[in-house]
Amino acid sequence: MEKLRILVVEDDHEQRGLIVQILSSESFVIDSADCVEAAIVRIKQSPPDIVFSDWKLGQLTGMDLLNYVQREYPDTGFIIATAYGTISHAVDAMQLGADDYLTKPYQRQALMLSINKVAQALSLKRQNKRLTDELSEQKALVGLVGKAPCMQQVYDRLTRIGSTDVTVLIGGESGTGKELAARALHQLSPRQHQAFIAINCGAIPESLAEAELFGAEKGAFTGANTDKVGKIEASNQGTLFLDEIGELPLLQQSKLLRFLQEGTINRLGSHKDIQLDVRVIAATHKDLAEEVAQGRFREDLYYRLNVVPINMPALRERQEDIGQLIEHFTRLHSKNYQLPAPTLSTQAKKRMLDYAWPGNVRELANRIERFVLLGDEQELCEGLQPMASSNADFMFNLPEQGIQWESIEKSCLMQALSKFNGNKTKAAQFLGLSYKAFLYRLEKYQVQ
Ligand SMILES: Nc1ncnc2c1ncn2[C@@H]1O[C@H](COP(=O)(O)OP(=O)(O)OP(=O)(O)O)[C@@H](O)[C@H]1O
Ligand SMILES: [Mg+2]
Repeated sequence: MEKLRILVVEDDHEQRGLIVQILSSESFVIDSADCVEAAIVRIKQSPPDIVFSDWKLGQLTGMDLLNYVQREYPDTGFIIATAYGTISHAVDAMQLGADDYLTKPYQRQALMLSINKVAQALSLKRQNKRLTDELSEQKALVGLVGKAPCMQQVYDRLTRIGSTDVTVLIGGESGTGKELAARALHQLSPRQHQAFIAINCGAIPESLAEAELFGAEKGAFTGANTDKVGKIEASNQGTLFLDEIGELPLLQQSKLLRFLQEGTINRLGSHKDIQLDVRVIAATHKDLAEEVAQGRFREDLYYRLNVVPINMPALRERQEDIGQLIEHFTRLHSKNYQLPAPTLSTQAKKRMLDYAWPGNVRELANRIERFVLLGDEQELCEGLQPMASSNADFMFNLPEQGIQWESIEKSCLMQALSKFNGNKTKAAQFLGLSYKAFLYRLEKYQVQ
């Protein structure tokens, strides 16, 4: 264990020498100062574990030093020595956060006892802090890896709203961890021991959507031989995760809205209201505002869902996390398959850093899984084209026969729109156009 550092602050030269002598004979590293100002300089230079300070120090007092230490170095132990008959000073100091006090004159033994007591409390406090830090880190991340500032913002939001029942809409490209974030929210909530039910709204046929979500009474439709509990009812007391909410048919959207507003549902074929307690989290890779503008998504439902939006950043926006993610998935998959963890060459790592990751974390996880299984670095790097860092990298030559400018421009607009599933903001960005300029051109070519 490292030696404890103690700073002795005492203006009386002789007394200071004595205390330093006593403490030096024990296994402490001792520093000393004769006034508050000098003590602050010493603390800044090399912060001690414990400050042992006299109360009266020239113009200032040990209380001034205690104030400073409490504010700037709250984890430091503090012992104050007060003159006989001034117990009120000691009381003040203890109230302000000093860990112990000694009344002058004191014995060597009393000094040692006090130092040891504070040292022990300090070590417990530090151990405690380390444990809670570790715990809160584990809790905050719940499986989400990455330290980039944009991810910190996500963690902040997740922890802030984890314990509430607020409805959350998680956006982000495919494979960015939307479902993982939804699970993290559930884990952070008091509902963590209840059900987490995920339903992919894009994967249920429209004709079955209602029964799937809201349930059905026996005989409500052909084939309904028994009562069917829907997904919403099954998540009672727990969390319902509506993935790809943008795909939900309009009819179900209005029923969902009613549930969000009133907390009740009716099973298909029944008029009986069932009251439920469900926390709803929705996710989409689409631009829902744009879906609303296009009349494909109910505006009122959009606002009801989007109480707190969380946007999962694309992997290319947090390149600094790629290294950590590679390590994470290498460890994970080599453990799962009980295979040794292969190491990546610096060159391969660089290629992974320079890649745009259109499939985000999922793509990276899949590539690493294959790498762990096959150990083939060449295959790992196959198709990892470096991101175009600027348009200067993209050059083309006009063909001999000339071009039809307008048809090329129109084709660019259409390609960009389809690339981003009709998301105009992203398409405009992709083409390097302002949103306004992009809309103007869409209108000009009557592209929808
Ligand atoms: N930050 C992260 N740390 C660790 N693993 C992650 C992270 N983000 C995503 N993953 C992993 O990547 C995969 C894809 O994540 P997830 O299914 O949550 O993405 P998604 O955004 O829901 O994708 P999609 O839109 O395609 O449904 C999962 O295996 C998930 O565990
Ligand atoms: Mg998903």
